[in-house]
Amino acid sequence: MFRMKLTPRLQAIADKIPPGSAVADIGSDHAYIPVYLLVNRLARRVIASDNNKGPLTAAAQTLKLFNLEKAVDLRLADGLEAIKPEDDVDTVVIAGMGGETICSILARGKDIISAAVSLVLQPMTDAGLVRRWLADNGFAIVDEDIAQEGARFYEIIVARRGQGMERQDFSDEIGPVLLAKKHPLLKPMLEQRLRRLRKAAAYASHSAAARERVRQLEERARYLEEVLSWL
Ligand SMILES: C[S@@+](CC[C@H](N)C(=O)[O-])C[C@H]1O[C@@H](n2cnc3c(N)ncnc32)[C@H](O)[C@@H]1O
Repeated sequence: MFRMKLTPRLQAIADKIPPGSAVADIGSDHAYIPVYLLVNRLARRVIASDNNKGPLTAAAQTLKLFNLEKAVDLRLADGLEAIKPEDDVDTVVIAGMGGETICSILARGKDIISAAVSLVLQPMTDAGLVRRWLADNGFAIVDEDIAQEGARFYEIIVARRGQGMERQDFSDEIGPVLLAKKHPLLKPMLEQRLRRLRKAAAYASHSAAARERVRQLEERARYLEEVLSWL
């Protein structure tokens, strides 16, 4: 049996799955999370799905390598259509996709998500959009994390059905749990975001037509500066 070491992003996602869960990994691609969970006996059952045949073939190859072909239920399906009520899944992972894709998957399949299910979401972009969708659709953020790989930061959001925290005046761009626990990677992540915003604002300011865009970028930059002053 090969040992399996996950990247920091995948490890941070796997760490949010309660041991003993019945897990559905939606958009599993190489099935690294399912294999990690089974090799380490951290899940009682795993479904790995993808809506493309190529990634499912890659998943089958990983499973074969670890002699786990029979242990994982591989399903070709769009989003949450992969899960049936009788699967009795308690943790759904949707990771490595854009925030918009994650919101669209959740919107099309939210009826399958009961109060007993934890969502472990890892948007590659637009985490704020995912937080807004959750708040607008009766899901509460119960935990969050940030993983770093080189210069890239990845946000992980854990949500369940329920009332969210008071959002007050901070925007969805800032994870409420990350802020509440002053996550050690929140400051460097926001500093990087602020540097990029300032660069984009300076670039856009060369064009008179982009005045509104510059105003928005500067407003966002001021907001990030304010949040950074609390950290
Ligand atoms: C970049 S991979 C991420 C793989 C893995 N989840 C990770 O975090 O490393 C995204 C995968 O999601 C799949 N995908 C995208 N939209 C999907 C959908 N609506 N339903 C199921 N899978 C989807 C893609 O085919 C692709 O294999």
